[in-house]
Amino acid sequence: MSARIKIDMDRRLGRIDPFVYGYFIEHLGRCIYGGIYEEGSPLSDERGFRTDVLEAVRGLRVPILRWPGGNFVSGYHWMDGIGPKEQRPRRMELAWLAEESNRFGTDEFIEYCRAIGAEPYICVNLGTGTLDEAAAWVEYCNGTGDTYYANLRRQNGHPEPYGVKYWGLGNEMYGPWQIGQKEAREYALFAREAAKLMKRVDLSIKLVSCGWDGLHDWDRIVLEILAPYVDYHSIHIYTGSDDHYLNIAQVHQAERCIRATWALIQEVKYKQRLGHDIRIAYDEWNVWFRERTDGLEERYNLSDALAVATYLNIFQRHPREVGMANLAQLVNVIAPIFTSPEGLFRQTIYWPLRLYAAHAQPISLDVWVASETFTAEIDPEDRHFLAPLMPLPYLDVSATCDEAGRTVTLFVVNRHAADDVEATIQFTDFKPMPAAQVYEVSGPDLNAVNDFGSEQVGVTEKQVTDAAAIFTYTFPAHSITVMKLATGPAS
Ligand code: AHR
Ligand code: AHR
Repeated sequence: MSARIKIDMDRRLGRIDPFVYGYFIEHLGRCIYGGIYEEGSPLSDERGFRTDVLEAVRGLRVPILRWPGGNFVSGYHWMDGIGPKEQRPRRMELAWLAEESNRFGTDEFIEYCRAIGAEPYICVNLGTGTLDEAAAWVEYCNGTGDTYYANLRRQNGHPEPYGVKYWGLGNEMYGPWQIGQKEAREYALFAREAAKLMKRVDLSIKLVSCGWDGLHDWDRIVLEILAPYVDYHSIHIYTGSDDHYLNIAQVHQAERCIRATWALIQEVKYKQRLGHDIRIAYDEWNVWFRERTDGLEERYNLSDALAVATYLNIFQRHPREVGMANLAQLVNVIAPIFTSPEGLFRQTIYWPLRLYAAHAQPISLDVWVASETFTAEIDPEDRHFLAPLMPLPYLDVSATCDEAGRTVTLFVVNRHAADDVEATIQFTDFKPMPAAQVYEVSGPDLNAVNDFGSEQVGVTEKQVTDAAAIFTYTFPAHSITVMKLATGPAS
């Protein structure tokens, strides 16, 4: 099978926000307890952080970390999670029907963010929470005055303000599964008051409105009320199927949601004459369709890794629209890192996540691709209404370059289950040196999975020796290719 890829260095789409390689952790199953945090484990440091997990997490270069939920946050009272650990209340946890020890709270979260170099992003409780509680949380984190909550932080051993800049106004408040579910207008009016109060505590914070997916009336009603107060509108997406082509096709729903949300944002900004930026925070996204209970310990195969790489290509192709994206989640719960008390393994999806964050450059380039296409078989009841998305190309591509346009990194996902694709790659105004570095993620077949002590899906390094302004490269069946090209020294 053949394909053509054309890249014109003048066709810049914009700067990719580093936050699109972000993550999310929730008090759910073994994400926090037994995942990133395990007191008393020989693998943990004096803070209770699992050091093996820390190392694997650092490999992902997490730029921003969302916490503490998810559904969990809609019943969470943050004051339960501060102060001496022995005095923290152990509570019933009604989002996931569990028990919450509260031994990991705000101070531990900030400490974790510092340990991995991530910007903290806190979602407040607009389910059972109050306006006072939301404002007090901002004060606890950022307050600089001689006031109660700022002093409480100092008393707990943190004299300097944390400067938490990103705050979410509730989680999935539209859903019947949400504690404190609300109608759109009811949510938006409550969130508006929370926003006002939180901003009065610290005017410098950035707020995120709770959207759905850009395709529901919810998003319009919420944006009409909250647009003046927010810097991001949050949407979520989970996809997945045992059928490989459906698993891949569903991911393209994210492109439709990005376009719809962006159009809505533009419309509301225009009608209200708003000049400030409002961008999309895709603050939960992933393949998730297998494990609905038992801690959501989804095991990922190679097909899922190709789906995750496709998501990352989509975010990279929409640099103006998407200002943040957070993979749900980081450890154990629908996650790239999977632990036991004795160790961990990296799931298939770990590898594209790691490679994209490591090798993407700041500028996104508009790529033209001619590739044969596929049409997945859709269940007529499919809630994603996928038909309009198809046919889809086997090759899914994004490209980035540095500011000076002297290096290009290509990201190519060959979603074909069986066939290699021989592609002609053609540049306009870019002449790469013949030698280029390639990182490839693949495995024996689409169902290949990783496990403790057996990683069937990993990264292979390869060298291109004949790169040029026009050259051909064969992308193996069911693989992800990251190719780094550079021009020679300026003459
Ligand atoms: O990430 C798992 C759950 O999915 C989150 O708690 C919730 O926000 C979403 O429904
Ligand atoms: O509250 C003012 C400043 O805003 C704080 O000093 C800083 O931490 C925050 O970002």
